[in-house]
Amino acid sequence: MGIPKPHIPLDEIRAAVEACHKCPLADGRTQTVFGVGNADARVLIVGEAPGKNEDLQGEPFVGAAGKYLNELLGIAGLTREDVFIANVLKCRPPGNRDPRPEEIELCTPFLREQTRTIDPEFIVTLGNFSTKFILKTEVGITRLHGTLQQAGRFKVFPIFHPAAALYDGSKREALENDFATLGELLGTRKPQA
Ligand code: URA
Repeated sequence: MGIPKPHIPLDEIRAAVEACHKCPLADGRTQTVFGVGNADARVLIVGEAPGKNEDLQGEPFVGAAGKYLNELLGIAGLTREDVFIANVLKCRPPGNRDPRPEEIELCTPFLREQTRTIDPEFIVTLGNFSTKFILKTEVGITRLHGTLQQAGRFKVFPIFHPAAALYDGSKREALENDFATLGELLGTRKPQA
């Protein structure tokens, strides 16, 4: 076996993200959205890309989907301070359009380094883009959500994106059940009355 590469400190990865101009999304951003939370987290949550509020505040999941994510974390017996939250893309796509393949390719070396440094036990992928990237699969989130997967040494637990439930209420039950299952897998879920 070769000598493992040393992990890059999160502050160094953050500085590289802030300096990045590898794709045109850099021109439209107010600021980069590196990610936030516990650098020793057991759980890394990976969303898609910053939206308008995240671009303005420099923090992931601070808009309506973020408020709902906080509630969902509560179902698992977790708070935002327990987890690390990041996105596939670090800059907002214009008009919140989907990430493009070339943007994902250029941006995800940052997510890969964040993952190596945080070294979580679980990666929770929210929605199709992060699930397909982390699992290197074409299978969609509708089939994969709520099933425990593996990517290298990481357990991966795909869940619908919380924003999906904001315009399709039928996804709420699946999201809430999946976060309950996550809490059970982690042993953090509070006993239900
Ligand atoms: N949706 C995401 O995927 N990420 C965010 O940070 C906000 C909304």
